[in-house]
Amino acid sequence: EKGGYEHFMLKEIFEQPNSIADSMRGRLDAKNSKITLGGIREYADALTEANRIIIIACGTSWHSGLVAEYLFEEFCRIPVEVEYASEFRYRNPVINKGDVVIAISQSGETADTLAAIELAKSRGAIILGVVNVVGSSISRASHEGAYLHTGPEIGVASTKAFTGQLSVLIMIILSVAVRKKTITDARLKELLTDLACIPDKIRKVLASNDKIEYIASLFKDARNFLYLGRGYNFPVALEGALKLKEISYIHAEGYPAAEMKHGPIALIDEEMPVVVIATRDSSYDKIVSNIQEVKARKGIVIAVVTEGDVLIPKMADYVIEVPKCDEALMPLVSVVPLQLLSYHIAIMRGCNVDQPRNLAKSVTVE
Ligand code: M6R
Repeated sequence: EKGGYEHFMLKEIFEQPNSIADSMRGRLDAKNSKITLGGIREYADALTEANRIIIIACGTSWHSGLVAEYLFEEFCRIPVEVEYASEFRYRNPVINKGDVVIAISQSGETADTLAAIELAKSRGAIILGVVNVVGSSISRASHEGAYLHTGPEIGVASTKAFTGQLSVLIMIILSVAVRKKTITDARLKELLTDLACIPDKIRKVLASNDKIEYIASLFKDARNFLYLGRGYNFPVALEGALKLKEISYIHAEGYPAAEMKHGPIALIDEEMPVVVIATRDSSYDKIVSNIQEVKARKGIVIAVVTEGDVLIPKMADYVIEVPKCDEALMPLVSVVPLQLLSYHIAIMRGCNVDQPRNLAKSVTVE
């Protein structure tokens, strides 16, 4: 059942080239620049014309919601709010006519997300579900939606569901951009062509598993970790930190790299590993300065960089290369080394990675 892997988590990390291809099958036609989402039809206009989109989710699904926020803004020019379901449901949220709620959930059974959906529905919102488990409560409570089609995720730490969510959200967002005419044909073509190559790019990252395992062996006894990213890689920093804390029980925090100066920089000393997601994108120069700031305080930098980068390897203590990729799609690729890093650290610490203490696969109580 674990397909020759020692743990479900490792199996699911390695499944990602295939699970992402599964999430795109029959939907993405890069050659003809077409996206077909059978699950969003009746409400496709409502989504395209939405005044505002509210994304509700928890945990890892909330992180993919943050990536979606940046993408919706960039490509569709629609204002987006990303809410923790648990907070949303106990506030008195303002929901106006023309608002569309997107609920993201792997299990489709998360109690807070389900309750938030019911609240939004009772106030007239349209609910679109981005869910993995077919027939789950959240998929049934949604008006329409798109399944991930990534297959069952058994490990408590979400891995292939995260990349499946990103893949499906990107397809939703680009199809809205086409309908709204907020994207040029050339840019669409570029993105869809790159999207179709993501499975191969992830295969390349997986080939660095031994190197990542070696880096893990050096930091398995660390007591704290900081994860930094900017732009599309900021949610990846949050996700990397969540993966590490939930399965290895090492305290980790994810931050937007520039926010470091507003507090976390005080934590940095020669014992502090700082994972910086520093791939080549529009904030590259800025993140290079952030790396310098960490090094000036003697922090240990583990950088995730784009292959061929010659500058950061001179500054960072360790680098993990990932293939070149459009910055809007980079989270699909840059998260993978962080999944592997946390997996190996947890294994070396003797932790039960598939069933970490105190955690359940789906949180069906609040
Ligand atoms: O099934 P859901 O996507 O609704 O679950 C949400 C969170 O409980 C989940 O992502 C949790 O944070 C994971 N254990 C993270 O790896």
